[in-house]
Amino acid sequence: MSTREFRIWRGAAGEGDFASYRVEVNEGEVVLDLVHRLQATQAPDLAVRWNCKAGKCGSCSAEVNGRPRLLCMTRMSALPPDGPVVLTPLRAFPSVRDLVTDVGFNYAKAREVPSFVPPPGLAPGEYRMAQQDVERSQEFRKCIECFLCQDTCHVVRDHEENKPAFAGPRFLMRLAELDMHPLDAAPDRKRAAQEEHGLGYCNITKCCTEVCPEHIRITDNALIPLKERVADRKYDPLVWLGSKIGRRPRSD
Ligand code: SF4
Ligand code: SF4
Ligand code: FES
Repeated sequence: MSTREFRIWRGAAGEGDFASYRVEVNEGEVVLDLVHRLQATQAPDLAVRWNCKAGKCGSCSAEVNGRPRLLCMTRMSALPPDGPVVLTPLRAFPSVRDLVTDVGFNYAKAREVPSFVPPPGLAPGEYRMAQQDVERSQEFRKCIECFLCQDTCHVVRDHEENKPAFAGPRFLMRLAELDMHPLDAAPDRKRAAQEEHGLGYCNITKCCTEVCPEHIRITDNALIPLKERVADRKYDPLVWLGSKIGRRPRSD
């Protein structure tokens, strides 16, 4: 057993300051364990959002030493041994209180992406897909909606003004997944990605991929392929003709 200094942002609606605490640390503990110990011993009114404590609900997103992380999956032993551990709320979203932010931006963006459109003339149960198409989308469906990727993306992290025009990596990935789906009959996902959801703002820095706790290769497997598919639609005359006569061009 040892102790460690924590500096935690305390406040509401963006107004507040850092408070310092010294907390007991035991072997194998994660940052969320320490936050719970603080609540039990020194700061019962400290606000933090959590649910599963197993890296699956996506609720405990915050910033540890300035890096977006899940509090329940960040081991104390993985942090630098010296200096205080600094906990702050997600920077890209409005602060509610202490470590809790309002992530409603993400739910609004989710609603802007039309869901899967079943192919006409086929009933559920008659759908058939190649195994490679199933496997491609399975990676994207591991998303736990923690919004760490949305928080870290520089397009919105320091640029509130970009939010209306940019869906963020999580929802551009969703658009990519739907556009790659061989049975999705929605028209023009590529045009929408570029013109309505801000795909062009992404300059493939891969910061979103680096913070994803599910290790989804957001940039390499979703965003770059989506950009390539948008370019194909625009500059390949056969793809352009296919889109005009209403057939979905093959992706493989
Ligand atoms: S790769 Fe694109 S979406 Fe991901 S963080 Fe960079 S700019 Fe944002
Ligand atoms: S893609 Fe990864 S970082 Fe982004 S919301 Fe999903 S799980 Fe979280
Ligand atoms: S508490 Fe569920 S992901 Fe951390």
